[in-house]
Amino acid sequence: MHLEILLVCVACVIAGIKASAIHGPCETDEDCGTIDTECNNNVCTCKPNFAVWFDSCVALPQPRITCHKKHDCHRSLGVKSMCTKKNQCACKPFHHLHQGQCVKNRDLHDTCDHDHQCYCGEDCQEKIACIHKNCSCKAGHKPYRSRRCISDTPFVLRIADQVQLAPIKATESFVKESTVASSTKTLFSSVISIVLPIFLLIK
Ligand SMILES: *[C@@H]1O[C@H](CO)[C@@H](O)[C@H](O)[C@H]1NC(C)=O
Repeated sequence: MHLEILLVCVACVIAGIKASAIHGPCETDEDCGTIDTECNNNVCTCKPNFAVWFDSCVALPQPRITCHKKHDCHRSLGVKSMCTKKNQCACKPFHHLHQGQCVKNRDLHDTCDHDHQCYCGEDCQEKIACIHKNCSCKAGHKPYRSRRCISDTPFVLRIADQVQLAPIKATESFVKESTVASSTKTLFSSVISIVLPIFLLIK
């Protein structure tokens, strides 16, 4: 009986795998829940050109700007910028760079007036737009984990697409593969969490 309880608990844990925070464990980029993070050696870290700031990743300009106080940054990046402890200018949390200025993020399904206000991550910018004053996924894309936009092209077509544009899309296809791996895992977890309790009940 104890073993059965244990098995149910294991199933619940697997099914409940949630997106990891910064410095949390991961297998693919998709496991990292914080915007603009990626999975490096099984740890969620900020992407290049982002710096850790408490529990978020803040955007760093290129080239970097050295600072001693926030006013040093305001001149170049606008008033929504700050000076990090490493003396680098960065956008405040929940802001992104647009044409060299820090702009407050409008998340998926927030209200908006301009495309550039909508933000779902550095790798997602091409997929989101301000449509009818609502930050929405562009045509051919769908919301993913209620915060990002991903291509809604069927997987088989995506592979064909990748083969055709392999050299250009090498990086992007890597991201897509991660998405597939992650959804397979989610499916597997769901199946286990449904089948196992039923099996135990019948038993
Ligand atoms: C934007 O659109 C989504 C999906 O149609 C909807 O759920 C959401 O409430 C809308 N947001 C606003 C601010 O109108």
